[in-house]
Amino acid sequence: MFRRIEPATHGALDFAELERLGIQPDDVLDFSVNSNPFGASPKVWDAIRQTPLERYPDRESIALRRALSQRLDIPLEQIIIGNGTAELIQLAAFAFLQNGDHALIVEPTFGEYERSVRLMKANVHRWRAVSKNGFIPSAEKIHKRLSQRNMQVVFICNPNNPTGQVVPHEVLGEWADLFPETLFIVDEAYVAFVDGMKSAISLKRKNILILRSMTKDYAIAGLRLGYAVGDEAAMNAMKKFRPAWNVNALAQAAGLASLQSEKYISETLEKLRSEKETLVSGLKELGYKPVPSQTNYFLLPVGNGADFRQKLLAHGILVRDCTSFGLPTYVRIATRTAKENAKLLETLRQIS
Ligand SMILES: Cc1ncc(COP(=O)(O)O)c(C=O)c1O
Repeated sequence: MFRRIEPATHGALDFAELERLGIQPDDVLDFSVNSNPFGASPKVWDAIRQTPLERYPDRESIALRRALSQRLDIPLEQIIIGNGTAELIQLAAFAFLQNGDHALIVEPTFGEYERSVRLMKANVHRWRAVSKNGFIPSAEKIHKRLSQRNMQVVFICNPNNPTGQVVPHEVLGEWADLFPETLFIVDEAYVAFVDGMKSAISLKRKNILILRSMTKDYAIAGLRLGYAVGDEAAMNAMKKFRPAWNVNALAQAAGLASLQSEKYISETLEKLRSEKETLVSGLKELGYKPVPSQTNYFLLPVGNGADFRQKLLAHGILVRDCTSFGLPTYVRIATRTAKENAKLLETLRQIS
């Protein structure tokens, strides 16, 4: 009677779990979400105070799309806004996949891609990066895989969650040209965290769809906001599947204000990059072996990820157990502020 679909596993606070453990959400330091820990720009708070709540939001998010269009130098018609990138992943699956289609997922990666492929009853194919190679994706091997079978869709998280590794820009362009029947969905949720990383938007290929999150670098995860950039026909196809008023007025206002906070965002991300180096050095001093990554987050081999997470949670620290990524011996840690990172290191010192 019911269609069945399993939810993807995510990091972030699990409020029900905290209630069971008798821990207040405000008492937890959350290293499990890969967000800007310095919080939203002060301009966001001003914008929110001025947003009327009694009015329905703009269904087309025109002001925000216009600002993005100027920022990215692409036409308004090639941008749609979503209630977080999570919604856009699902809209893309609705629009571009159907029963029996084939989708390749470059793994280990974010669980929503597989869930959305399954939702459409399409076939999941995987190519998996391995620890032996530092989880760096092999362009050659993925190319080979693409040559073996026609895929309707390829999901590439770039930079990847949870490994923080990157598929080079030129490689994406080459694949798009070599496999014109395939839609490459490139999730750039974390692109702002990699210093100088070029977005696939600049490749301007019709068969590359770029997903961007505004919840991570702008620290507005509680509001939900993301956008997709692609060919106009693809954007129109996705639009048909979205619920009306999918992006609330506060999120639209916060997105606009964040775009006007360039200095705040770049300064906080710069600070975060330097905090990451300090945190990684601190972990090495304690005898851990963080896996090199290009992002603010990284994998840490710990023996048993689930146990390690529980042990730290009892001390009010949350890390991401990587079992759901098929990496049960790892946790993923996202850098926070200097004081918070010091607390993590101190706690690790105490419990090990
Ligand atoms: C790779 C990736 N894409 C998308 C999302 C979802 O982002 P949003 O908050 O914009 O829905 C996440 C969140 O964890 C993610 O890791």
